[in-house]
Amino acid sequence: MERTNLSMHIARAPVGLPARADFALVEEPMPQPAEGEVLFRAIYMSLDPSMRRKLPAPDGVPGPLGGTRQVGELMIAGLPPPARGYTGGFVGQVVESRHPGFAQGDLVQGGCWWQTYQVLPGDSLEQLPPGTKASEAIGLLGQHGFVAWCGMRNIGKAKPGETVLVSAAGGAIGMIAGQLAKADGARVIGIASGDKVAYVVDELGFDACIDRKNENVAVGLDRLCPDGIDVYFDNVGGDVMLAAYERMADFGRIVVCGMASEYNAPEQPFGASLRPVLRKRLRIEGFVVYDHYEAQFAQFRAEMQALIDAGRMKYRIEVIDGFAEAPAALARLLDGRNKGKVVVQLSPDRSVVT
Ligand SMILES: NC(=O)c1ccc[n+]([C@@H]2O[C@H](COP(=O)([O-])OP(=O)(O)OC[C@H]3O[C@@H](n4cnc5c(N)ncnc54)[C@H](OP(=O)(O)O)[C@@H]3O)[C@@H](O)[C@H]2O)c1
Repeated sequence: MERTNLSMHIARAPVGLPARADFALVEEPMPQPAEGEVLFRAIYMSLDPSMRRKLPAPDGVPGPLGGTRQVGELMIAGLPPPARGYTGGFVGQVVESRHPGFAQGDLVQGGCWWQTYQVLPGDSLEQLPPGTKASEAIGLLGQHGFVAWCGMRNIGKAKPGETVLVSAAGGAIGMIAGQLAKADGARVIGIASGDKVAYVVDELGFDACIDRKNENVAVGLDRLCPDGIDVYFDNVGGDVMLAAYERMADFGRIVVCGMASEYNAPEQPFGASLRPVLRKRLRIEGFVVYDHYEAQFAQFRAEMQALIDAGRMKYRIEVIDGFAEAPAALARLLDGRNKGKVVVQLSPDRSVVT
């Protein structure tokens, strides 16, 4: 085990997209677990667009930027304790345990700081079943899979023959949401950019995909959804959400999952008129995945594992090497230049070879 711990602190408030110089990579002393705590070594850190909102705003800049962290502080991923388990942050391996529920070598999910080694209360970590692939636990079978599943199962509820639209369709959550709708017999249209446009159609089996950087989204929706949209799984908010909202079919459902187009925006976008919600009897419902773990995670795991085993769920991961590359990768994620689920690898993955 190393003697020092690589940690990423916030060096300054980003202006626009985050950059490497907004962060400082610091070597800190190795933390020691106290009674009830666990020291784990991070293997993968999940990179999420909403991390942009955790960074501070430049001084004197009004608006929605400016999150929970300040200059000089450790950067954060996922939720800090007392939040438990699948907080979206890390998959790692236990190095030393002073908690009766964990032993050296156990694969765990949890953690919150941009650090290679983290000490956390054992009660805040989730033990992963033996044989788990760390690369699947950080996405498909972890928080991102569960987010897509909750949105589709609890709100979208796609029926055979319905038209389902998924934005950020080639991203971590969109990839899964669309395939779940396909498995339910729906016609699935994606919105994406870059090589993700071809990927979601050719590899994931979506029926079509609008290239939002090369076609006006509203025009593309009129072309591909002439009878309206029954379910819109919204990962991005903003103009794309407005274009979809105006083309919802009667009794349509909008799954408000996230607003990736807005996380880097210095101003709050204009809201939409809610008149069509009444006229078309739409259902627009937001959700936060943390509310559903206790009641539904086991059901999700079983269903997702069955789809993976049947070859009906594909997924791609872009692995970034270490913290130093993470700010640039976060910027690429925020403007759509990622290729699937983005994770930062912080130490060797000795779980089942993928
Ligand atoms: N509700 C919950 O509990 C929960 C939990 C976790 C995450 N989320 C949210 O779920 C959403 C998806 O997360 P993810 O990790 O899967 O991210 P992601 O889709 O892998 O990455 C974000 C994507 O948003 C798209 N995008 C960025 N700017 C855009 C713009 N101006 N207009 C349209 N699209 C734009 C880009 O895709 P293209 O360029 O390919 O279009 C980009 O790749 C995020 O909003 C996230 O915050 C919700």
